[in-house]
This record gives sequence, structure tokens and C-alpha cells, in this order.
Amino acid sequence: MRRLLWGIWIVALLAAACQPAATPTPAPRAGAQLPDLKGRELKIASDTTYPPFEFVDPKTNEVVGFDVDLVNEICKLLNCKPKIISTAWEGIFAGLEQKQFDLAASGITITEERKQKFDFSDSYLRYGQVVLVRADEERIKGKDDLKDKIVGVQIGTTNEETAKTLVANEAKQLKRYDTFDLAVRALLAKDVDAVVIDSPAADGFIAQNPGQLKIAGQPFTSEDLGLCFPKGSDLVAPFNAALKVLKENGTLERLYKKWFVEFKPGQ
Ligand code: ARG
Repeated sequence: MRRLLWGIWIVALLAAACQPAATPTPAPRAGAQLPDLKGRELKIASDTTYPPFEFVDPKTNEVVGFDVDLVNEICKLLNCKPKIISTAWEGIFAGLEQKQFDLAASGITITEERKQKFDFSDSYLRYGQVVLVRADEERIKGKDDLKDKIVGVQIGTTNEETAKTLVANEAKQLKRYDTFDLAVRALLAKDVDAVVIDSPAADGFIAQNPGQLKIAGQPFTSEDLGLCFPKGSDLVAPFNAALKVLKENGTLERLYKKWFVEFKPGQ
């Protein structure tokens, strides 16, 4: 019996010694411990009129912004190719339902209502809504001063829902625009008195229109932004795993600084 065991040992040792020399392994993917999407192209819908989340850089005509960098960083980890498709806000959700897009990255708030129809990634940013006014505005000091004012919002957003509760007569005082860009133009043209908008986007428009706009009061909601997927998408788990890595390795914070602290167009 002993002999037999020794024999087995020796055979095992010889087998180990005869292994071919290890071939040099190729450099691992940045996200080697994460799922590999094998170069898959992802159609990503985005309403690209929303600085600093996603907007067209007038110098290069390219779509840039926080969300764009975010999906690029995620795809570096997961080995996918992001293809941003500029889409009207409401078309984003219709397209996701019909599975025309793999996901949407567009500063989208995670809401209970949207969760009925779509899947969301974990939150990648928490922020509040604010009241954006012209720089010389003196009557409006915060949300409670909007009861008798004309307020602009982008249609179909959480900001529209909020603004409805702040004005006395929605039919008369709420002006809905297809994009926030148009709502801000209406504000500058004095067609509306204020715009209710996510605070990072308010800062984005202030940066784009130096000296012309300001925030009245403090952020007064708390919302989480997520990437939005068709229900049942196989991408949610890999994206969450990649997001976790980007949170832990400081990338998210770097992008936050780049777009929400240092973003000053034209410099
Ligand atoms: N966070 C708000 C919402 O989800 C507004 C987002 C608007 N995004 C955009 N790209 N226009 O309803």
C-alpha cells in the first residue's frame, strides 16, 4: 500500500516538473476581475443638451460630459464599445421600451415610477434640484417665491413634477420645453422668471452663460441618478460591478471634479 502511495506521489511530481514553461500572459484587461463583454458595441441614448452631463462641445462638435466619460470608463473595464446616440428626452424612454437602445445615460433620476418600466444601475450621483434665475433677479430668493411666477422646465422630467407643486396655477404658470437648453434660453429672454433644474445642470448652464444666471436659495430635493436599461437587461450586473470599481478607485471622484467643479467652457 505504502509503495503504491509513493508511486502516485512520484508520478505526480514528475508530471508537475514536465509542465511546459509558462507562456507569457498578455497584459490583463483593466477590469480583469469583471465580466468581459468581448468588444460588444452598446447603443447609448442621451439627450445631449444637458451640460455638464452631456452636451455638444462647440469647438469640436463632439458629445462630451460627465455621463460620456462615465460610460467610457465603464466600457474600458468591461471591454465594450459605447456609441452615444443623441436622442430627444422622451424618445429615450420610448426607445428603451422597444429595446432600440442598450441603455441610456442622460442624468436620469431613479424614480419608483420609472422602475416599473426600466432597470437602473446603482446610483452614481446624488444631488438636489434648485431654482435657476437671471443674475439680476431680486424677487425670487428660493422655491417658495415661485407661487405667482412663470416657471420653465424640461417636459417629462422630475423637475416638471417638482415645479407643478411650486406654482399656484400649473396651467398658467408652468412652461414646458423639449430641452433644458430651451428653458434656459427662455429664462434669458425673460419669457419665464425661473427654471427648476438639477443643481449640477444649473451650474453647467451658469458656466455656459457667464455672469447671466444664478441659483436662488439652496437645493431642496434629494435624488439619485442612474444609468437606465430596458427591463431584464443583462448589462445591469456588469455595469454595477464596474461602477463599484470606479467608486473605489477614485475615478468617479476625478470625473466629478472635472465636470462639476472645474468645468468652465471656453477656457
Ligand atoms: N434628472 C431629471 C430627470 O431625470 C432631469 C434629467 C434631464 N436630462 C437631460 N439629459 N435632459 O427627470
